This record gives sequence, structure tokens and C-alpha cells, in this order.
Amino acid sequence: MPDNGRYSIKKFSQEHFVWEEYISGIWCEIFSFLEVKNEDFVVEFAAGRSSKISEALKKYEYSGQATVIEPNQVCFESVTKDYRSKLPFAVITGEKKTFQEYANDMTPARGGMKAILVANHPIDDMLLASKASQEDLDMLFDWTSVSHEEFFSITKKVWDKIIREDNVHAAVEDVYNDLVMGIEKIQPAYLVISQYDSITLERNGMSGLNSAAREVFVMLAKKFRDQRVDSIDIQRILDGYDDFNDRHIREQVLNADNWLIIRF
Ligand SMILES: C[S@@+](CC[C@H](N)C(=O)[O-])C[C@H]1O[C@@H](n2cnc3c(N)ncnc32)[C@H](O)[C@@H]1O
Repeated sequence: MPDNGRYSIKKFSQEHFVWEEYISGIWCEIFSFLEVKNEDFVVEFAAGRSSKISEALKKYEYSGQATVIEPNQVCFESVTKDYRSKLPFAVITGEKKTFQEYANDMTPARGGMKAILVANHPIDDMLLASKASQEDLDMLFDWTSVSHEEFFSITKKVWDKIIREDNVHAAVEDVYNDLVMGIEKIQPAYLVISQYDSITLERNGMSGLNSAAREVFVMLAKKFRDQRVDSIDIQRILDGYDDFNDRHIREQVLNADNWLIIRF
């Protein structure tokens, strides 16, 4: 079949689907390792249109309460709909807010329910969003209306602007401070964040964004080092997954150093 636009989009959605399915399996194992219960309260932030965590909760047969925090209107509608269709027996709520707005507005009393705060690969997007105009934000995250190629050129445009304006350090500091403030406000029982290097960012000339995201991740890991779940336990979970002989999957995704599990 010729690699025309239509074929590429089809191929991209198939690959996207397989990837979502693969990562959701890891998340399901993590929920099982943490013994998440229906009495707990799962909070996902920076979900985008991804179904990795909703699919993981479906695999885990979760029927408790979950809330999704997502500031982009299109993503918010899509992800809450996805959660509701995948988890018909759970109570799903959503907040169309940034993580920091959600944390600032919330009252921690949850009637004794334990919050499990989760995000898959959120930091690079939070860095971009922290310095983007509203117009750029809409284009960056509402990528249903743009092609795969356009999406990377918009991402690159926003990232290059951050570099040009010498804002990388400020973005790192802002996102780190927002995450710490939010975690302290939400007071979760567990925090789980993955942040492996993105091969697509690397291939599109944005390895600096991977490095900046890593910097925030390492700062967070350092801040909460005393409560961090032992990487041996996390590696044991990841070792159960096929790396398909792919170096990036082996060294990045299935690497415990790129998964932060904090037990408060
Ligand atoms: C590419 S998407 C989804 C990434 C997704 N977690 C995954 O694994 O594929 C990133 C999302 O993060 C959201 N986002 C950016 N900054 C945020 C913030 N400060 N708080 C919450 N969500 C944010 C954007 O609106 C966007 O929809």
C-alpha cells in the first residue's frame, strides 16, 4: 500500500492503539502492586486523549471513584467520555483545570478515602504548557484537527520559543514547584509518575525537552527520596514485559529509574 496521507494516519492510529494497550498493562500491574482498592480515589492528571490509565483501570476491574484533571476542552471531553465508557461501574468525575489549579482549589477532606495520584509521561507537556500562549496550547493539545507532522512542528515551535527566550530553566523550576505544591495540597497516599525519554521528541530534534523533563523528574525523586518505593520492586514489575527487542523500550520504558512511585 502506498504511504500516502491516509495510510500514514491509519498506521499511526494502529501504532498508537498498540502503544496505549502496552503501557496500560504496566499501569494495571502497578495498581495491583499498590493494592489499589475500590474505596480509594484515583486522580489522573495531564491525561490528554490518552486511554492508558483508563484502560489499566478497566483491566484492573476498578469500580471505585476516579477523577481526571485536564485543562484542554477537547481532551477533557474525550478522556472523561473514555473513562465512563471503559469503567461503567465506577464513579467518574472530571475537572477541566491544570494540575496546579485543581490542587489550589481543592479541599483535602475526602472522607478518609486515599487518593492515588497518577500521571503517565506528563512532564514534557507540562513544560511546554507552562510557557505557551492560549492559542499555542489549543493547537498543541487539540491535535485531532492537525496531522501527525503538523503536530510535531507545533510542538517544536513552542519548544524552540522556550529556548530562544531563555526560559528552559524557568519552566523546569515552575513545573517542579507546581508539582510539589500540588502533591503537598492533595496529600495522596501514593503518587505514581512515569517519565521515560520520548523517541518521537528525539527524532524531531527535541531531545532537550526530554532532558528538561528528566531534570524535573530527578528533582521530584530527590525531594521524596525517603518515601520512594524501592526500584528493585518496580523493576520486578517491568521485567515481566516484553521489550520486543527494542532498545528504547528496554532502556527507557522498562527501566525502573523512569517510574516514580511514592508511598506517603
Ligand atoms: C500529550 S497529552 C497526554 C499525555 C498522556 N499522559 C500520555 O501518556 O499519553 C498532555 C496533556 O497534558 C495537559 N497538560 C499540560 N499542562 C498541564 C498541567 N499543568 N496540568 C494538567 N494537565 C496539563 C495538556 O492539556 C495535554 O492534554
